[in-house]
Amino acid sequence: MRSLIDIAELSLDEIDSLLATANDIIDNPEKYSEKCKGKKLATLFFEPSTRTRLSFEAAMYELGGNVLGFSEATSSSTAKGESVADTAKTVSCYADIIAMRHPKEGAPLVASMNASIPVINAGDGGHNHPTQTLADLLTIKREKGGFDNLTVGLCGDLKFGRTVHSLINALRRYNNVKFVLISPNELKLPDYIKESLKKDNFEVFETTDLEAAMPKLDILYMTRVQRERFFNEEEYLRLKDSYILTPEKLKNAKSDLSILHPLPRVNEISVAIDDDPRACYFKQVLNGKYMRMALILMLLGVK
Ligand code: NCD
Repeated sequence: MRSLIDIAELSLDEIDSLLATANDIIDNPEKYSEKCKGKKLATLFFEPSTRTRLSFEAAMYELGGNVLGFSEATSSSTAKGESVADTAKTVSCYADIIAMRHPKEGAPLVASMNASIPVINAGDGGHNHPTQTLADLLTIKREKGGFDNLTVGLCGDLKFGRTVHSLINALRRYNNVKFVLISPNELKLPDYIKESLKKDNFEVFETTDLEAAMPKLDILYMTRVQRERFFNEEEYLRLKDSYILTPEKLKNAKSDLSILHPLPRVNEISVAIDDDPRACYFKQVLNGKYMRMALILMLLGVK
């Protein structure tokens, strides 16, 4: 039995195979419509979500399976003081697979150590978000054809943004990927990630200036400033508008730039960009559903 807590647990071959399955689902959805008949996915969401939870649910329904779960901690026994370990043991009696989001880093790992069914990390605090990365990878693959030799700009809240941490961990396994880290000084990528990139001889370029970095980028991954992870509201208010991508700022961008964002967007991408052919963030939402379908099939061992 296998869980997915960190994107690095998947080999490159497995990622290739998930991408291939997702592309096949896109082309032949009917082939998959009963693959998970009789199976149940439990979505245990201790933190707000629109895309991740609904896309897991849509994914399971499109595989012919069923879904149960909760969308806030207050409606579960956590409100009575139940541990994540006990919740995981309990839900193992009802479902075949769990998708868990939790504000505490490591909670889905604890769940996976106590559950008797696969657990998927659907985002743990400021740590990791492997299934968002699967959505990002399918989007990059479909837009760029592959992952080698890309210059990837990551912009916004690189400190608390779990999607950024997981995406870096995935892309660092391909050849000649360059990372351009664009953030205010207060929201820089954590040192432990930066140091490990440098140790592996990655070209990592840190800047506060989005426009100066723009011309080099093949991918621009915008992120929201993660309000819920701040210790004080004043600091959030000071930093929240650090980067707002407008058509003006894209003037010097490559004509084949791909703009990604895990969403939700607050105001860091102007809606004026939504119709630009380089905007990929709503395609990314759809890709997330297909990759979650592929992942559920893999973890349930459905052929
Ligand atoms: C992200 C998350 O929850 O980390 N959203 C998502 O799952 N698509 C990004 C965010 O909340 O800013």
